[in-house]
Amino acid sequence: SRPKILIARAISPEVVTVLEQHFDVRSNQDDIAWSPAELAERLQGMDGVLTTGSQRIDAALLAACPQLQICANMAVGYNNFDVAAMTAAGVQGTNAPDVLTETTADFGFALLMATARRITESEHFLRAGHWKDWRYDLFAGAEVHGSTLGILGMGRIGQAIARRGAHGFGMQVVYHNRSRLSAELEADCKARYVSKQELLSTADHLVLVLPYTPEAHHTVGAAEIASMKPSATLINIARGGIVDDVALAKALASKTIAAAGLDVFEGEPAVHPDLLALSNVVLTPHIASSTMGTRRAMAQLAADNLIAYLGGQAPVTPVNRLEHSRRSAA
Ligand code: GLV
Ligand code: GLV
Repeated sequence: SRPKILIARAISPEVVTVLEQHFDVRSNQDDIAWSPAELAERLQGMDGVLTTGSQRIDAALLAACPQLQICANMAVGYNNFDVAAMTAAGVQGTNAPDVLTETTADFGFALLMATARRITESEHFLRAGHWKDWRYDLFAGAEVHGSTLGILGMGRIGQAIARRGAHGFGMQVVYHNRSRLSAELEADCKARYVSKQELLSTADHLVLVLPYTPEAHHTVGAAEIASMKPSATLINIARGGIVDDVALAKALASKTIAAAGLDVFEGEPAVHPDLLALSNVVLTPHIASSTMGTRRAMAQLAADNLIAYLGGQAPVTPVNRLEHSRRSAA
């Protein structure tokens, strides 16, 4: 009989149709956000699941769903997966890299521009009827072209942002990463490798694009923010928890740095009230990869992983390597 899969949230009907050609599909086209217990219940008897970044896959869930062989995340980040628990249980994990790189870099740059040039703040002012006349310094922002762009986390998305800054806006690009890029990639991105400290102190605009891991928790806290320029902007399109949001709100209130643009938050979809109360922060609801074309490509890549793996092939974009798998045991 055909393998059974669950699609955890609503996705493009075209991709559901593709999956239905290979599997018995249970989908959630009503797009309900299930609790962990509801998810476990709906996963009973399922061989695979297509997850978004919002379903936690951990040891308890895997124990409750002994038939589950693969979790295919339609996100590049997979901090919703307990990868060690999945590997121990023999469950394959996959993510969705590459297909979202340019779209996410576009958004990172849009958030940088909106933050530096105070676009949302000035729109609120206009809509509220406060615009009375021309003023010399009305919403005077920070220069973008020709400034220094700092990038923390130089994966594919970081590199795509670097190219936009260097080639499109004539920015000097500095970056820090666990590992240094090849000379060719550095030349292509016109990016210079620096220490984290130099990155913090020289960037006019600092963009965070590193994956969330427990070691990356509060990579940017009060001390790091204090070593940035008072005129600097901080952009987080990585994950909530990489920035200490409480420390950032304090720093923005006291003008330790000029402004921040945030697409991700600690404990999202909750946003810290201190951030909501500030005018020098641009806030968006975790939408950096959200264009219809890119979301479809992410769902399709997750589908490709399910089709390959449950069809006995190697997964396309695995996040773990299994010593033993539930698949071979089945
Ligand atoms: C989105 O946050 C992703 O990881 O794809
Ligand atoms: C992260 O993995 C990226 O693609 O930048």
